Amino acid sequence: MEFASFFISRIFTMGISIAIDGFSSCGKSTLAKAMAESLQFLFVDSGAMYRAVTYYFLKNEVPIHQPKVVLNALENIHITLEPSPNGNITLLNGKDISTDIRDMAVAEMVSKVAAISSVRTAMVKQQRQMSLHNNLIMDGRDIGTVVFPNAVLKIFLTADIEVRVNRRYLDLLSKDTLVSLTEIRRNLFLRDYIDSTRTDSPLLRAEDAIVLNNSNLSREEQLEICLLLAKKRMK
Ligand code: CDP
Repeated sequence: MEFASFFISRIFTMGISIAIDGFSSCGKSTLAKAMAESLQFLFVDSGAMYRAVTYYFLKNEVPIHQPKVVLNALENIHITLEPSPNGNITLLNGKDISTDIRDMAVAEMVSKVAAISSVRTAMVKQQRQMSLHNNLIMDGRDIGTVVFPNAVLKIFLTADIEVRVNRRYLDLLSKDTLVSLTEIRRNLFLRDYIDSTRTDSPLLRAEDAIVLNNSNLSREEQLEICLLLAKKRMK
């Protein structure tokens, strides 16, 4: 084994990692958070990091087609994810932006920002650092394929499009945000398309990932299945 790849695999094995990937709004974070609670692992919502970068770019009018300006902007972005009973609290340069990053304006832009290689490099570096001292469950699009190729368990979550649209609609409504079903459907299609067709780290099922369609599963049922899988793998 080459020194570099040996070194990288050593880094990856510092903590146990579990990867949950899949399309937009199929309940990855809900599942990952519940699993993390049960296994006493750290839960990391990697999507929140891409949303935080997007929020910064929107606020500061960063032109995303100018690589040098993007690189400079990345220098000024410090993202911290803090665990809380409701998921991750997302801090951007110390400010809590957990609610702001769920806005439709961010949802409309995030896939374009996440397709930029320099943005991905910066986020993946930070994501791998989080695994150095923690057992963690991370959800996203490239966790099993790129971030933690040696994850002990990889789950590729799917759900039928109408189920996903309805879940996101109710989720936003519970936060007093009314967005039409049509607009949500359009946004999910657009993000899935951009995420799956980008050149750098496209959304793909890792060859060794277990596919789980949760359209007809309750939260409890999917949690039970995934915990069984995790415990079997960690034996
Ligand atoms: O929760 P939802 O399914 O709406 O998406 P998210 O996990 O918050 O991710 C928002 C966006 O970030 C995705 O549509 C991707 O464009 C990007 N993302 C990514 O590229 N890689 C990841 N590991 C996680 C998210």
